[in-house]
Amino acid sequence: MTTFEIRRSVQIVLFVGLILPFFLLTGCDQPEVESGVTYTIPEQPELPTGYNPKPGWSTSEFAVAAANPLATDAGYQIIRAGGSAIDAAIAVQLVLSLVEPQSSGIGGGAFILAWDGDEIHAYNGRETAPSAADENLFLDDDGTPLPYASAVRSGLSVGVPGTFALLKTAHENHGILPWEELFTPAILLAENGFNLGPRLHSLLENDEALKNDDIARAFYYDDEGNALSTGTNLKNPAYAEILRNVAQHGISAFYEGSVAADIVSRVSSHERPGVISEADIAAYPALDLRTEAMCNVWREYEICGFPPPSSGHITIMQMLYILENLDPVDEPLADSVPTAEWLHQFMEASKLAFADRNQYIADPLFVEAPVGNWQSMLNSDYLADRSTLVTDTSMGTAEPGNPGDFYSAYGVQIQQPESGTSHISIVDRDGNAVSMTTTIESGFGSRIMSDGGTGLAGGFLLNNELTDFSLTPTDDDGNPIANRVEPGKRPRSSMSPTLVFKKDSGEFVASVGSPGGAAIIHYTAKALIGMLDWGLNAQEAIDLPNFANFNGPSVLEEGYFSASVIEALEAMGHEVDVRALTSGLQAIQRTDDGYFGGADPRREGVVMGD
Ligand code: GLY
Repeated sequence: MTTFEIRRSVQIVLFVGLILPFFLLTGCDQPEVESGVTYTIPEQPELPTGYNPKPGWSTSEFAVAAANPLATDAGYQIIRAGGSAIDAAIAVQLVLSLVEPQSSGIGGGAFILAWDGDEIHAYNGRETAPSAADENLFLDDDGTPLPYASAVRSGLSVGVPGTFALLKTAHENHGILPWEELFTPAILLAENGFNLGPRLHSLLENDEALKNDDIARAFYYDDEGNALSTGTNLKNPAYAEILRNVAQHGISAFYEGSVAADIVSRVSSHERPGVISEADIAAYPALDLRTEAMCNVWREYEICGFPPPSSGHITIMQMLYILENLDPVDEPLADSVPTAEWLHQFMEASKLAFADRNQYIADPLFVEAPVGNWQSMLNSDYLADRSTLVTDTSMGTAEPGNPGDFYSAYGVQIQQPESGTSHISIVDRDGNAVSMTTTIESGFGSRIMSDGGTGLAGGFLLNNELTDFSLTPTDDDGNPIANRVEPGKRPRSSMSPTLVFKKDSGEFVASVGSPGGAAIIHYTAKALIGMLDWGLNAQEAIDLPNFANFNGPSVLEEGYFSASVIEALEAMGHEVDVRALTSGLQAIQRTDDGYFGGADPRREGVVMGD
């Protein structure tokens, strides 16, 4: 048996023993609710963390995929109540903010791609830098950048949250159920309590910085400073109160008044204070969040993704197009593990794509695209030329290219750590599809929690999205970095919400995306290649081992790749780094009979549908 087969066997045993019972349990209480949505709080058995096997799920009419069973279930119940894919996504997000607070929430931002059967709509809810922030935000008095972890765990990293404005905009355009009804699952779970899952427990236990925040320490830890144990029934009255107000009075109840005042107070009273103001927060809802998806043909598919400030789609498509220009590898997979020959090509394509990403991509409201058009980076002649740089041996690191004879005065941003995030894929009964990736950046964001000024226990975590900007404004030669901090600017993202269609008929094929910092790009590319090139179903594609290259060492997921694969890569000149690569892919595919969904075994996600 290969390592992969052994792991699959363990997965099957674990699935039958630990995960399946979750789906066999019926709902319990049916509390009285004030809205028209009758939400049933599901049973909440304890789920294992670590590598949890997932079966893949077939549905006939609709499907909801999210990173936590309670969040998936909320979306499921909303669609059963007559809601649209966007209605479900709103309910999912509001529950994720409660049960997976480490990854996304109302204190962060997100991107949504929404397909309405005719058109794709893209909505940009990325956080903005405060008006008082400038390119020196993360420099100390000597002009030295703060250590990355210190920058993250500070008020400086907190951007103006975009999530609520994004959800409201999407609802205005695609919602069916009334806005306030979409809040019912999250409010009831916050008031009645949810069972703290093993993943959240283990992340709380391993995070030293969150305890320094007085609200978070009182809420997530006991008197001795130990993380609340798995299975603790955790109520979040502050979050419930904030949601009730936003449900009834609209998003101004978040962007103005006591919630906004509390965000500012929490950020400015931090020992390393930030510069966000109530005026910055009040200004967010007036932004136009609509943007245009980028769609590109690849083989018989049209692959649509998010434009800058996300680097996701452009970088993924550069990788796919460069691979397409190379000699096909006879055997890309052996025993469901990518071979060294194929990995070599993928790693080299990644290096070239990341070199361009780090030179050019930033908020398009502040930075011009090469030759005025981001599609220039996906030009076939340009990428055919770039592909010639891939040889039989590793190129080491790649230099950025020059799409369309474009003179760039920008310096290259060095790769910084990126992490966190959550992904939601949904298709509703009318065939409307959503791909939404959502984040507060690193695990537990800035480690600053706000109770929204309620004075009640709990609340929500504030993002550290501004550390997705370059901490240094210039490169070593003094050239400005495109993705430097500027007031009102949105930091570059790797989030890659993706929708795939048949090129000729326009039929929906798949919705996919992942968390994972800059590796979101590789994880999403892996899932696309698995489904569209290697003919795997969504679950098989997600289960494939992970691999990444950020224009340096070739990173392989620990526990999958044999010594012979590693040695073969090293013989081709790769520096190989074997470590955990914790993707959190969710995907839904159209099938002849309906839909097939997959969720990442590395996290707690599930798919539900009828
Ligand atoms: N903070 C994760 C991303 O935007 O890429």
